[in-house]
Amino acid sequence: MITLINGDGIGPEISDSVVKIIDAAGVKIEWDVQTAGSDVLEKEGTPLPQRVIESIKKNKVALKAPVTTPIGKGFRSVNVQLRKTLDLYANLRPCKNLPNVKTKFANVDIVVVRENTEDLYAGIERQIDKDTAESIKIITRKASERICKFAFDYAVKNSRKEVCVVTKANIMKLSDGLFLESYRNVAQNYPQINQREILVDNLCMQLVQNPNQFDVLVLPNLYGDIVSDLCAGLIGGLGVAQGANIGEDYAVFEPVHGSAPDIKGQNKANPTALLLSALEMLKYIGESEKAEIIEKALFETLYQGIRTADLGGSASTIEFTDAIIKNLFN
Ligand code: NAI
Repeated sequence: MITLINGDGIGPEISDSVVKIIDAAGVKIEWDVQTAGSDVLEKEGTPLPQRVIESIKKNKVALKAPVTTPIGKGFRSVNVQLRKTLDLYANLRPCKNLPNVKTKFANVDIVVVRENTEDLYAGIERQIDKDTAESIKIITRKASERICKFAFDYAVKNSRKEVCVVTKANIMKLSDGLFLESYRNVAQNYPQINQREILVDNLCMQLVQNPNQFDVLVLPNLYGDIVSDLCAGLIGGLGVAQGANIGEDYAVFEPVHGSAPDIKGQNKANPTALLLSALEMLKYIGESEKAEIIEKALFETLYQGIRTADLGGSASTIEFTDAIIKNLFN
């Protein structure tokens, strides 16, 4: 059994699409469907009820569609809470060009490894007075070494050549300095992998000028969040950007994008990002063969020029889904 959080906004539309495709490919999954987010908050008093956590703890693996977080006030992000509660310390975001999806650069193949549990996202904030607010940035050696080790292990396992650490250690000498020091300590154990250090502002400029020079990037939480969206833009936008949150015991696979309230319920959403995340999930549970068959059908669909509006096409979510299913059997 696998937990399915079908989310809100476009979440239910893209979840339906992905479940239909996986089912059509003949993968037998019993989905433990769990609702979460703003609708649940009204009914159950919390956007992330304990039943959702229990379900993931029981099943170990979850596929998650996006949920809305209101800006400025209201509840704390469900995503942040899930990552903290389950100690999903590594956020993995592979960004690779897809066939027939027009982008500025060809052959982009970057893997963003983002620390997921601390930094400014630790949620430690206070209002000092009515005109002053404070957020605390937490960086620990333990979490920094753990994420750098994850990045290097990933590089070894996936035959990558380089792990580049991204900080602003010239300004935040203590916090980002500790992240950098942790990287250097861990890197000593991986002489076969190239090391590189870059400041986050320079990285952003280089990424939009010459992204092909980068391989695996490892970043603290905030920079990782921003840079992974930048990388998503390099490969065709949020509609195709996959992700996974991985810890020692549990893994939650989810797209980079949010709940896209602007196109909710319009049968316009691109399910590709959630589908690619689900394919990583299938590989994780030992269904690599089926994942490859589905990926081939997705690529074939894109080759045929069948695309949703975010990629310049005219296919609806349902038409795109049906085309992938048709291509499963070609
Ligand atoms: P967003 O990612 O939802 O949307 C940004 C833009 O990309 C919008 O124009 C949207 O239509 C488009 N877009 C996103 N996904 C798409 C898809 N699959 N197909 C076609 N177009 C797509 O970001 P936004 O608007 O900043 O956030 C909306 C809500 O989602 C917020 O409440 C935010 O907190 C939440 N959010 C949730 C995440 C999660 O559950 N993992 C991650 C990021 C944001």
